[in-house]
Amino acid sequence: MIISGKQYKSVWMQDGKVCLVDQNKLPFEFDTVICSTSEEVAKAIQNMTVRGAPAIGAAGAYGLAMSAQSAPEDDFGSHLRRVVDLLLAARPTAVDLRNAVLQVYEHTLSFLPDITQARVEAISAAETFASSSAEECRLIGEHGQSLIEDWMGILTHCNAGALATVDWGTALSVLRIAWSTGRKFFVYVDETRPRLQGSRLTAFELQQEGIPHAIITDSMAGWMMRQNKINLVITGADRICLNGDFANKIGTYSLAVLAHAHAIPFYVAAPISTFDFSCSKGEDIPIEDRNPEEVTRLWGKQLANPGSAALNPAFDVTPGELISGFITSKGIFKPQEAAHRIRD
Ligand code: MRU
Repeated sequence: MIISGKQYKSVWMQDGKVCLVDQNKLPFEFDTVICSTSEEVAKAIQNMTVRGAPAIGAAGAYGLAMSAQSAPEDDFGSHLRRVVDLLLAARPTAVDLRNAVLQVYEHTLSFLPDITQARVEAISAAETFASSSAEECRLIGEHGQSLIEDWMGILTHCNAGALATVDWGTALSVLRIAWSTGRKFFVYVDETRPRLQGSRLTAFELQQEGIPHAIITDSMAGWMMRQNKINLVITGADRICLNGDFANKIGTYSLAVLAHAHAIPFYVAAPISTFDFSCSKGEDIPIEDRNPEEVTRLWGKQLANPGSAALNPAFDVTPGELISGFITSKGIFKPQEAAHRIRD
């Protein structure tokens, strides 16, 4: 992604450390965070310095690879297992974190007892995850751009952009590539309460690309649909099940119901790491509950009635039958067939 004219990835490894674009400070300040320990990586995932399913996958992969460099020789395997558990506990819903970390872990262990080689391979496995994830996101854009027609109004929710991935984005990769090939369209950006990933991050990315857009509050989407302003909805996902049910940022389910009621196509863009081949249906997806203060307070300021309780499920699950299809690096598939086509 290009920020102020300079090329960035959202997550990368430099001098043996894990580097992250600080997504909590954007769009007001551009800053990077350097993590030197796996504990710091886990904390950055938990507090959403790095966020978005593929991006936390890459951060976890690099975090484990980094810890393999200093893991004691006499306790190498068990040390790595403890780091895996620490990283996976940071956020439960996006399966990319589990898929990426276990990919690095299993690859690394397969070189034991040669610890020197295992350390080298840990880095290489993390780099492979990150670079193939970015390339997949580019391919998602190439496949998905065929869905975009001139003068469409397109709604997106949360941030499924380059910031949420290693590069390119998923939903935003589709928009980015369609725009770069000359298609003209307008993007409605859901604010995405409570953490404002839409109004802060998606709006920021679209502005960097020069793509026309307007921020709307989450509750405005239905009315925009009713007025025929929205012709297409594209979001990302955090976990996709075998039957096509998927988890994504809270509010996605409501949008899918609304899009279905208005006969508006709804596509979900995701790389292979977001598919959970061990999960048969949406009811089995663990939903992260975050601190209710994210709902009642913003940047240290109380917004809600003091003393009232609040709820903060960070994700919801949308049944596959409500959507039109999944945009993947291998093509666009119907909800119920996507996981099978991706796996085989
Ligand atoms: O809580 P977040 O900001 O990590 O949630 C992110 C989302 O729900 C995204 O839509 C999803 O990870 C897809 S990102 C390509």
